[in-house]
Amino acid sequence: MTMIRSYLVLGALLALPGWAAAATPTTVQIQPLLDANGCSSCHERSERLVGPAFDDVAKKYGGNVGAATLLLKKVRNGGNGVWGQVEMPANTRISDADLARVVDWVLHGGAKAP
Ligand code: HEC
Repeated sequence: MTMIRSYLVLGALLALPGWAAAATPTTVQIQPLLDANGCSSCHERSERLVGPAFDDVAKKYGGNVGAATLLLKKVRNGGNGVWGQVEMPANTRISDADLARVVDWVLHGGAKAP
């Protein structure tokens, strides 16, 4: 079982070149993903648009265990009630790998780096 698990982890690492090994992605790397996947029409780094500013999301969850898992699911499925009554629609277009990079960037204050 442990063996299988290590293969899975290895597979995930190989599938995400430069992600697991590298530091938190920078805004320069992430912005095109936000634009290509429609996030930019509702989110901005430092100001609230339709959805919360990513800096505020980082402040709310930074350091919380399990925050990444929670946010991955929330962004994928959409929902409301955390920042107000406006609903975030499900985001089905963005790949799992890209979504993981975006959430990593949001949570680790990458939003503050260039
Ligand atoms: C149509 C507008 C819209 C789009 C498009 C959108 N969001 Fe959101 N997003 C929202 C709203 C509204 C909320 C607040 C939901 C709530 O209050 O629970 C939100 C919340 C969030 C949160 C915080 C979730 C929480 O529970 O605290 C994150 C992170 C986030 N969005 C990331 C993304 C990413 C990444 C994308 C693109 C793949 C995206 N959003 C696309 C409107 C949008």
